[in-house]
Amino acid sequence: MNNKYELIYEGKAKKVFTHDDEDKVKIEFKDDATAFNALKKEKFEGKGKLNCLISAKIFEFLIKKNIPTHFVGLENENIMIAKKIKVIPLEIVLRNTAYGSLCKQTSIKPGTLLSKPLIDFYLKNDELNDPLITKDRIELMNILSSDDLELIVNLTLNINEILIRFFKNIKLQLVDFKLEFGYDDRNNILLGDEISPDNCRLWDLNQKNDTIVSLDKDRFRKDLGGLIEAYSEIHRRINDFLQTK
Ligand code: TMP
Ligand code: ASP
Repeated sequence: MNNKYELIYEGKAKKVFTHDDEDKVKIEFKDDATAFNALKKEKFEGKGKLNCLISAKIFEFLIKKNIPTHFVGLENENIMIAKKIKVIPLEIVLRNTAYGSLCKQTSIKPGTLLSKPLIDFYLKNDELNDPLITKDRIELMNILSSDDLELIVNLTLNINEILIRFFKNIKLQLVDFKLEFGYDDRNNILLGDEISPDNCRLWDLNQKNDTIVSLDKDRFRKDLGGLIEAYSEIHRRINDFLQTK
């Protein structure tokens, strides 16, 4: 990044820099992959670019469906321009199919289709290991008002409806995903962060039997190999689908 731009924040997978316009930021997507609060770490050449391009396409699609997001445009293949937001310190996870931590913490069998989407809230706090948190605790800690929490829950359910159909078109099952939101300078709530195979579980529907083929960060979390191949496949399917529209 041109050193004219100041680093505002460095996360596990992205760096956020200032922009010439004060109300925007430049987000650089890194090639690093982490899991289990960065206990597991590896670099995958090309992952940053793939996640940036995939996220950009999905944000553009959501914006067309009237979802307010921070996305402004792409500066290049791994730098996204976004509206500056004050990030709400919550990870909003929506699950359509039981997998991952839900199955570790309950007796629900992996792969169970949930009768309705389940929303789990996690506190964004690395020192505390991003704990699962309740609605009452969110209000107790003054993180959000109950009205804003309701707005975020409704936006998340709406995004889920849009994304389930989007991914189904490209033969992917949207198992679960994690979203982050923030406030812009007019106090509007915008969808932030990224939407990519790093924070969505996507299973290939082009399978003859019921075997689970993960095309997402579980390839790294579970040492399955082929992460770049999986992310490239998702990028290719999205581009092919959007070209036919
Ligand atoms: P989980 O089953 O491990 O709770 O993950 C649920 C979803 O949230 C999955 O799509 C991966 C995503 N996720 C993140 O994006 N960041 C995280 O730190 C964690 C734990 C999960
Ligand atoms: N992003 C998380 C981390 O590094 C974990 C995950 O995505 O599973 O810690």
